[in-house]
Amino acid sequence: MSDFDMTDVSADEWDELHFPRPEENDFDHVVERAISRRGFLSGVLAFGSGAAAMGAGLLDATPALAQSAASRFAFVPIPAQTDATVHVPAGYRWHVVARWGDPLFSDADPYDITDGGPLSKSDRVFGENTDGMETFSFRGRQLIAINHEYASRRVNLPAGQGGTAADAQDVRKLQNLQGVTVMEISEGRTGWSVVKDSPFNRRIHHNTPIRIAGPAAGHPLLRTEADPTGTLVLGTMSNCGSGRTPWGTYLTCEENFNSYFGMTAPDEVAAGSTPEQARYGIGPRDWGYHYYKWDPRFDVSSNPNEPNRFGWVVEIDPTDPHAMPIKHTGLGRFKHENAEVTLAADGRLVVYMGDDERGEFLYKFVSRGAYVPGASTDGLLDDGTLHVARFDDDGTGEWLSLTPETTGMELPGICIHTRMAASAVGATTMDRPEWVAINPFADEVYCSLTNNKTRGVKPNAGGDETPVNGPNPREANRFGQIVRWRPRGGDHAANGFDWDLYVMAGNPTVHQDAYAGSGNINAGNLFNSPDGMAVDSSGMVWIQTDGKDTNQGDFAGMGNNQMLAGDPATGEIVRFLTGPKGCEVTGLTWSADRRTMFLGIQHPGGSWPDGTGLPRSAVIAVKRADNGPVG
Ligand code: FEO
Ligand code: CA
Ligand code: CA
Ligand code: CA
Repeated sequence: MSDFDMTDVSADEWDELHFPRPEENDFDHVVERAISRRGFLSGVLAFGSGAAAMGAGLLDATPALAQSAASRFAFVPIPAQTDATVHVPAGYRWHVVARWGDPLFSDADPYDITDGGPLSKSDRVFGENTDGMETFSFRGRQLIAINHEYASRRVNLPAGQGGTAADAQDVRKLQNLQGVTVMEISEGRTGWSVVKDSPFNRRIHHNTPIRIAGPAAGHPLLRTEADPTGTLVLGTMSNCGSGRTPWGTYLTCEENFNSYFGMTAPDEVAAGSTPEQARYGIGPRDWGYHYYKWDPRFDVSSNPNEPNRFGWVVEIDPTDPHAMPIKHTGLGRFKHENAEVTLAADGRLVVYMGDDERGEFLYKFVSRGAYVPGASTDGLLDDGTLHVARFDDDGTGEWLSLTPETTGMELPGICIHTRMAASAVGATTMDRPEWVAINPFADEVYCSLTNNKTRGVKPNAGGDETPVNGPNPREANRFGQIVRWRPRGGDHAANGFDWDLYVMAGNPTVHQDAYAGSGNINAGNLFNSPDGMAVDSSGMVWIQTDGKDTNQGDFAGMGNNQMLAGDPATGEIVRFLTGPKGCEVTGLTWSADRRTMFLGIQHPGGSWPDGTGLPRSAVIAVKRADNGPVG
């Protein structure tokens, strides 16, 4: 598999191919177990009408909630699509804002379709495979920070190499095209575009110096020969979801960082991974980038601590292009999806975070100090307590604190090997927690549990069994669901919460059991694998998908990956946008005036959007034709 080219598939799909799991489904068994969970149902029923409809759906997949005059959606939902472009409802328009390779500075040439452009300018252009993004308004300017999750080796490296890096220059080019872009954009008569040469334009990539802060900073496990202090690392990688702080900084989340590391020493390769390495997927071979062959930093044999310096949440000040980014070890180390920040009743900072791996966990950080506007925010993202979720089948749950007392680990160890700390306290194994989104109007939080083929099939990488449980009720789950919880007393710092399932994706045109999905799934809104998510300023839940787009079998009628809107109160979900075949739709943010929605089209297929024969990931703007607000 080492010559498999990740260019052709998403990172998640690559993982499936690289680590194939047994196909094992027994739907009768699934339904029996799900329905017999009285606790699960009572949990569902604890939450009003939408949830009740959903609970009924678990039993018999009741008919769809019909579009009614009372619908809160300001658009007519669109059908599924299987073609090679983007579709939005009547009365809406979209256009490309920035594509992979577009110059951020005038000294970079326009994109070269043959090899992506020269190495010398590869950190002067918009990176590849956009993911999480956030907008910031600063002194009348519109800034946007955008993650670049991974790079296509086949296109960016010289033709004839088959996507294999042949030297350190090849590796450097790939490193330059990933990470984060901060740029200024402006809206003109033809729409939004990049303000070339803006003083705010900046690329942060795999070699950008970044300070390490928090409880694990300077710990021996973070020290390397190049950085004996353990406080300064080069680069942020696998930048997946995003977040933002109340003080106006950007958070980028390091997800599949293990994909860049390998080992060269034959005895180490033969010995295999340590338990700590294995828990984080660090092994002898990477996912094909071959950094470790040309850049010793990524050779675990010579730099065993370098992988410990990734898997963090990184803070970037988009308004200061000279500010060094900061890795916050207080937020734990795992395959971070996004970081959803809010304030507790007493002003303490609360950060919700998913660990996107089969059978891993959902986390919450609560700061020690309170956020006071205008006062110093130093330490707010590091000095506090990590918690991990335990979901009980009676519809309640508890945030379990990860402390030396509860885990038997020292605090820096809890930060560095967070997964092991969470296993130690008996957290609930989840179906791949992706984005977390808070409803600003209802003290409720949503998390996409994208899918999990190994639910009930095999343990997680730490050996924790993964039987079906309340929020993860289907064995070998290939459709995904969205769990929702309400903090006890409406206080995000509270340890207790009540939960339900907002939706279980499924296919009622194919299945009559739990795989039909919940009652708010119908032939008109079919989707699988919820992933990106955000709640807009009107309280609408936007759901983006990263799933199978075969449009056949279990996935018949779902079409391409898409974005849907959900009403939190009624549970109604409708389709708003479809992406080009092959893509995932990920990343969502709005212009300051809410008249533009920005979202990302990652790893499209076909020839989108240029028709040049080469698909290019891009950020697009979606607007109403009458320039009305779009969220
Ligand atoms: Fe980068 Fe879990 O998505
Ligand atoms: Ca992705
Ligand atoms: Ca994702
Ligand atoms: Ca995903």
